[in-house]
Amino acid sequence: MSAIISQCSLDVLQKAAENLKSGGLVVFPTETVYGIGADAENFDAISRMYAVKNRPADHPVIVHIAELDDVDYWAVDVPEYAISLMRDYWPGPMTLLLKRSSHAKDFVTGNQEIVGLRMPAHTVALNLLKEFRKVGGHGVAAPSANRYGAVSPTTAEAARSELQEFLHPSDQILDGGPSLVGVESTIIDCTNENPSILRPGAVTAEMVEVSTGIIVVEPEDTKVRVSGSHKQHYSPSAKVVIGDSAKAGEGLIAPSAVETPEGVVRLAAPKSIEEYARVLYAALRDADLRDISVVNVVLPSGEGLAVAIRDRITRAAAQS
Ligand code: TXA
Ligand code: MG
Repeated sequence: MSAIISQCSLDVLQKAAENLKSGGLVVFPTETVYGIGADAENFDAISRMYAVKNRPADHPVIVHIAELDDVDYWAVDVPEYAISLMRDYWPGPMTLLLKRSSHAKDFVTGNQEIVGLRMPAHTVALNLLKEFRKVGGHGVAAPSANRYGAVSPTTAEAARSELQEFLHPSDQILDGGPSLVGVESTIIDCTNENPSILRPGAVTAEMVEVSTGIIVVEPEDTKVRVSGSHKQHYSPSAKVVIGDSAKAGEGLIAPSAVETPEGVVRLAAPKSIEEYARVLYAALRDADLRDISVVNVVLPSGEGLAVAIRDRITRAAAQS
């Protein structure tokens, strides 16, 4: 069983980077959710990471990088507007889909000509990636550290409870505290003339337009496959129902203005949209820990981060 390492000193991060370089798996915190990392150039390590997640092998995975210089290692024909986004929002909760270079192999891109790149903002993640560079690595492939289709973990403990029985004793789990954003990065397709958002997140369409000066358009076609875009995803064991008609014994996640009916278990009462994103996944997990079988979730209104929250809740509630 892999232990959780909570004091992520430079020494710990150096060892974790060496572990990654020799084919090990490292679960690490990011500002969005926890990821399970493998060397993005090591086929065997990535195959094992997929097995640990129980994820279909042909799904693409985001490559996490430490420096802007690494973009040219992984991608070619990077448009001007993508560079502007990198300058404005990296490190941060944003993944850019770009035309791949020869270094981005099929086992990372899911056989597509596109690679997903992200520079995370969490100190532990960023320093781990910097140390990984020092031992000759170029990027860490990391999906969210949950079993396929389940709720993404926003704490080290949640990641451990998802994956521990499938990890090797030499794999590591780094604890960097609760993720501050709480929902996965915005995925922006930068392979066309205009950017389009394939998964909403904390970097909003308005922010993209402000940075690039060009209009965000709807995704063109289905050429890009995004696993979180399947109708059902991010689901706890409990049945998720959208609305505020919770009955006694059921759970309720809703903005603080919504009152808790008699006998209903209040799982979260966020006071702002940022708090809603931060606590949503932990509250869904909490429902399972408390053996609650039905969770009622009230959708937040508004734009910005509310779009991402509605997207995740709607998918958690979808019947597969
Ligand atoms: O916030 C995040 O993005 C977190 C943290 C750990 O960085 N990662 C994450 O990874 O959410 P994952 O694998 O759970 O979701 C990434 C999504 C998947 O739906 C995948 O299909 C899509 O990004 N993706 C990654 N690379 C892609 C590519 N080359 N082409 C199309 N979609 C890609
Ligand atoms: Mg995921």
